[in-house]
Amino acid sequence: MTTFLLLNGPNLNRLGLREPEIYGNVTLEQIENRMATLGQKMGVEVIAKQSNHEGELIEAIHLAADQGWQGVIFNPAAYTHSSIALRDAISSVNVPVIELHISNVHARESFRHTSVLSAVSAGQIVGFGVYGYELAFYALNEIVKGGKENE
Ligand code: DQA
Repeated sequence: MTTFLLLNGPNLNRLGLREPEIYGNVTLEQIENRMATLGQKMGVEVIAKQSNHEGELIEAIHLAADQGWQGVIFNPAAYTHSSIALRDAISSVNVPVIELHISNVHARESFRHTSVLSAVSAGQIVGFGVYGYELAFYALNEIVKGGKENE
């Protein structure tokens, strides 16, 4: 069975309440449910985790590798712009990670224009609202299928 980890970082538990003019009105629970439904349609198990703590996010990435899961859809939130520890966690595993941002970070404050994670991620999806989670799912699915076809 193909399994993807859907991993969300700090403050994303407040989606729906948090700055709706930037992040919209959809809650994290709704996103997780939509992704689980999409996974069922596509034959992929989607395991969701959110944490406000850097170490827990690092451990979740390690767990994905140790469990043999095939990919990670990751919104690292503010850690995107600063966390070398998360960058090292991504580098330390042989699992494709798609970095995703709901908002267009490039149209916002300059400190959001830099990601310390994108160079070690399989790709980045930015600025498509919560639809970005579905785009990340499809991208990851292609990577996983491509890998299988090339074996
Ligand atoms: C975010 C963008 C980050 O800059 C910000 O710190 C977040 C959310 C996004 O999804 O647009 O918390 O990752």
